[in-house]
Amino acid sequence: MADALGVEILKLVNENEAIDTVKIASILGKDHQQIVGAVNSLKSVGDVIQTEQLSNKHWELTKEGKLFVEHGSHEACVYEAVPSDGGIKQADLMKTSPNAKIGFSKAMSAGWLIMDKTAEGGPVVKRKVSSIEDKAKSQVMLVQAGQISNIPEKECKELKKRKLIVEVVVKSFKLTKGSDFSLSVSKLETDLTPEMISSGSWKEKNFKAYNFNAMGVMPVSGHLHPLMKVRAEFRQIFLEMGFTEMPTNNYVESSFWNFDALFQPQQHPARDAHDTFFIQDPMYATEFPMEYLERVKKVHSEGGFGSQGHKYDWSIEEAKKNLLRTHTTAVSARMLYKLAQLEEFHPVKYFSIDRVFRNETLDATHLAEFHQIEGVVADYNLALADLIGVLHAFFKKLGIEKLRFKPAFNPYTEPSMEIFSYHEGLKKWVEVGNSGVFRPEMLLPMGLPEGVSVIAWGLSLERPTMIKYGIDNIRELVGHKVNLQMVQENGICRLDK
Ligand code: PHE
Repeated sequence: MADALGVEILKLVNENEAIDTVKIASILGKDHQQIVGAVNSLKSVGDVIQTEQLSNKHWELTKEGKLFVEHGSHEACVYEAVPSDGGIKQADLMKTSPNAKIGFSKAMSAGWLIMDKTAEGGPVVKRKVSSIEDKAKSQVMLVQAGQISNIPEKECKELKKRKLIVEVVVKSFKLTKGSDFSLSVSKLETDLTPEMISSGSWKEKNFKAYNFNAMGVMPVSGHLHPLMKVRAEFRQIFLEMGFTEMPTNNYVESSFWNFDALFQPQQHPARDAHDTFFIQDPMYATEFPMEYLERVKKVHSEGGFGSQGHKYDWSIEEAKKNLLRTHTTAVSARMLYKLAQLEEFHPVKYFSIDRVFRNETLDATHLAEFHQIEGVVADYNLALADLIGVLHAFFKKLGIEKLRFKPAFNPYTEPSMEIFSYHEGLKKWVEVGNSGVFRPEMLLPMGLPEGVSVIAWGLSLERPTMIKYGIDNIRELVGHKVNLQMVQENGICRLDK
């Protein structure tokens, strides 16, 4: 059934050939908008009523105009405030009403008052005429009565200029009967339910037509952070290249795997608390593959496998210290060690993309935690050319074709290369990553066969993400200043490959 208001409207349409919604509103004592709403819902039910839009202009009084009706015009009020005998000091007259100033000037120019400037103690205002006609008030009252046409145009303009009246446009509808007119209208069904189908009642029902212009409901869903979107793209590239993802689910690592296994001497400055976050509780890791640990100790302190080592007293205490991993190469070390324990070596291609931590000075491009993307390939007889080749293949998939390499140093790779790519926007070479061939001092103690070499590279995830999404301050990407709207509204990521 149409609601009660709808039924009232239908009755009025039935009684009158045609009726305006403004009139209906006044008959029913309702707000016009409410009538329009009810008409719209009647229209959705079918051709019950026909509507024709009307646009009516009429004049209304402003707040100030209404004051005139109540108290008289400002000028009349001022005139009345002047005593008929004697007069009043101008200063006192101004205090008689808030609009005295404007009223005074109108009354003066109408010739109702005169001013005696010679009086002692300041100017005195006196009546000039014994009676007045408050024309402004009567005109405003005419407008209120809908008889603006009786006012001469020039005076009408004056009322507008004085902001006593305004023109308002009311959009309304002329209602007439539609082809399906009836005094009671049943509501159309919006859903076809299983019950209607099983009982067969759908045959008797009227269904609401589809509204293809209706806006859909936004599906409620979570939103991936831009870093996670870009990570998915990098992961896809690695997978396409036949790489396997390494398990990176341990932020806490021992110094052993983070540094010692990588042939990084214990006095190395990166192992300082200024660069690395050490864990207080539990301060030490306890489980190590002891035979391997002995070989690591030996290669650091005495050398071996053709190396002189670092020649210092290697301490297990230092190796046991827990820390937040400073690079994902710690994960690669664990995986390579695991690989070396297999009965028979087989070549592998591994990758990881996860979070690392460094005790850095924070600025617009550095945070104490960020993500590293790392690729590792282990096989017999891999050389620098293989590394350069795989880097070209990898970066080509990112749409980066121009690469340059610069000799660098890492404690665990020899040779090592920084990777630069030509940035078309900045028109210069920018560093995009670091790479190298893992040292025998790292691989042989693990038990990997002689002749197997491992090439690897690493890059940051934040940098390409910031470029991709045009974010120039990393604090807008990570941390408490992240705008969730930004996360919600950023599009899916497609690296230009
Ligand atoms: N671990 C290096 C870094 O943190 C990156 C790297 C990975 C370098 C693998 C060489 C080989 O910058």
